[in-house]
Amino acid sequence: MKERIDALMAEINDLKCASLQEVEQVRVRLLGKKGEITALFDEFRTVAPEFKKEFGKKLNVLKSTAASKIEELRNSAEVSAQSGEPSFDYTIPGDQYPLGSRHPVSIAREEIVSIFRKFGYDVAEGPEIEDDYHVFEALNFPPEHPAREMQDTFFISNAENPVLLRTHTSSVQVRSMEKLPLPIRIICPGRVFRNEAISARAHCIFHQVEGLYIDENVTFADMKQAILLFAREMFGPETKIRMRPSYFPFTEPSAEVDVSCNICHGKGCNVCKNTGWLEILGCGMVDPNVLEASGIDSKKYSGFAFGMGVERIAMLKWQVKDLRHYFENDLRFLKEFETSI
Ligand code: DAH
Repeated sequence: MKERIDALMAEINDLKCASLQEVEQVRVRLLGKKGEITALFDEFRTVAPEFKKEFGKKLNVLKSTAASKIEELRNSAEVSAQSGEPSFDYTIPGDQYPLGSRHPVSIAREEIVSIFRKFGYDVAEGPEIEDDYHVFEALNFPPEHPAREMQDTFFISNAENPVLLRTHTSSVQVRSMEKLPLPIRIICPGRVFRNEAISARAHCIFHQVEGLYIDENVTFADMKQAILLFAREMFGPETKIRMRPSYFPFTEPSAEVDVSCNICHGKGCNVCKNTGWLEILGCGMVDPNVLEASGIDSKKYSGFAFGMGVERIAMLKWQVKDLRHYFENDLRFLKEFETSI
């Protein structure tokens, strides 16, 4: 009996009627001589004395709720009958549509781009499907360089002039040097592809932001300053950087840049593997061969370039431990970035 009372109560609360006729049908079904609630009152006589108090109360509440709901429905049906319009209850709460959030990789990319825009850099873009010349040859990669092997690069055609998916956004440097007037100050955000096994630290598709600055008298000190200012904007004003000598075919000298660990502030933790430093990008002075290959006079002009992985920057900024989270679209992960917009 209890279940029937509860079920009727729930049904009554949700009742809707489009016309006075319907209201009357509902009244007869519930409270008429053979109505469901009337039947429950008949049944009440058979309830054991110790339950009479509890069920009596419940039944009375049910009956009065039904009566007032029917009254309410009748009123609104009368109003709409007069106005000719269906009644509309302005007090019913609206349906909620959950808002999506921006992807953390987009948030990080836009932050990197907006920092360099403030420094006066323009955004340049280039194709994801590239040729060997723009990805390797014009960037001073020797013919036998391992990046040119099938193991590292996705080739689309392996004919005379191979077509491939770009392995880095450095190719946009070449395209920009070919067509833009000097001086050049650009950043190139984009997707890159590498033939790598997917793991917590590597993926076959990821994003990079490349930077390039070419003018007369551009020095290594200018590069260091630009990267330091970027690191402080991205990771906080206390951030320090250090440079380690490195090698890239397209820059000479080349360096890798570390920022002071933003978690332990140099004391040592498991994120920085107790070194106090985190690697964020590669950079260097543009090799004169690269300038000349794109028709720029390397006696008159010099420049610097740098390249960073967006997923990596985002992992360091938000302490994400596994790169694969970025590609799985798990809402529990994506929702953590709702407030970062
Ligand atoms: N292209 C390099 C890579 O994908 C990153 C890089 C390093 C870009 C040094 C640069 C640079 O412009 O100067 O690993």
